[in-house]
Amino acid sequence: MQLEPEDEQILNGEYGETRQKMMELLVGLGKVFGADELIPITSAQVSGASYKTIGKWGLEWLRKMDAKVVVPTVLNPIGMDRLRWKEMEIPEDFAAKQKEVVEAYEHLGIELECTCTPYYLSITQFGEHLAWAESSAVCYANSVIGARTNREGGPAALAAGIIGKTPFYGLHIFKNRQPDVGVVIDDPSDLKDAADFGALGYVAGKSIGNRIPFFTGIRPNRDQLKAMGAAMAASGAVALFHVDTITPETRFPAFKKDVPDTIEVSMAEVREVFSAMDVDAVAVGCPHLSPEELETLSSMLIGKTVTKPFFVFAARGVIADHPQAVSAIERSGAKVYADTCVVVSPALDRYDRIMVNSGKALAYVPTMCGAVARIGTLEECVTVATS
Ligand code: F3S
Repeated sequence: MQLEPEDEQILNGEYGETRQKMMELLVGLGKVFGADELIPITSAQVSGASYKTIGKWGLEWLRKMDAKVVVPTVLNPIGMDRLRWKEMEIPEDFAAKQKEVVEAYEHLGIELECTCTPYYLSITQFGEHLAWAESSAVCYANSVIGARTNREGGPAALAAGIIGKTPFYGLHIFKNRQPDVGVVIDDPSDLKDAADFGALGYVAGKSIGNRIPFFTGIRPNRDQLKAMGAAMAASGAVALFHVDTITPETRFPAFKKDVPDTIEVSMAEVREVFSAMDVDAVAVGCPHLSPEELETLSSMLIGKTVTKPFFVFAARGVIADHPQAVSAIERSGAKVYADTCVVVSPALDRYDRIMVNSGKALAYVPTMCGAVARIGTLEECVTVATS
């Protein structure tokens, strides 16, 4: 791999041991995937931030590091709201460990915005090269924004943040971003709510695997694209998808619409994912809610009182910018938490049946929270939580 002189010096240990190890990681990754060079990135997003997922060995690894990130870098959701963790009934010992994880990341210069939707906080532009780790954020950045990132592991994203570069391979290269499987839906007029698109992504992702799908015949908005991509990234391993005339790269003359293979998804399969099971708690905001979703939820909850625990998750910056919507939601008894989410917080582990409006949460709640998951639209979540 061709390295700049300064990168060679980092590799030789002239800028400290942590940076040397991070450079070794990036160069090793680049060699495995056949990259010729490292390219500059504009931001990094690091997963492995919840103590629930990284545990004591991850914390030990982080504690040994001594360097600063050189590009804006944020964290994926952690195991609790940093300010309201007691309200979430997070055990003291977990909170203490989680704080140590956060401090270790803070020591590396990482911004304490813990979210899977960093694109709501700072503008991420078409064509920018990124090193993001969280699979739904990767899917959104690549597909909806047209930025370029591989689906990084947590350590590789952190290394990229510290070095400011990432190996040039995979989805950073335009020719690797062409679709390789078409997806058609038999009755797309039934797709209305983001949860419908989440359920579609949940079903389709299983057949798509790690390929790049090209959807035709649907016109999802940005929130619906977010829900669909997150679910495909969870039930499959999708890091980039295209929707005809909706996602930006499909409008390129060089975009190849003739795909070698096509999958047909029936709406009957998608509808089967929905159920009417009784639940103990409701959680929305996977991925974290957009400003529009927060506003919509607040208008749905006006004059209502929740009768079940109702968890709402969004980025701290989005919550701060929408105080009236947040107050309206909380007046109903629902709780709006920042920094964390239904899957990576231990707060939801005490429930046996959780209702979500997310195909991704539907895929992960059973394994990560040990609960049965039910998916419904946002409106159905509100109805269930308030009846
Ligand atoms: Fe985000 Fe947590 Fe869902 S990281 S995509 S809210 S599982």
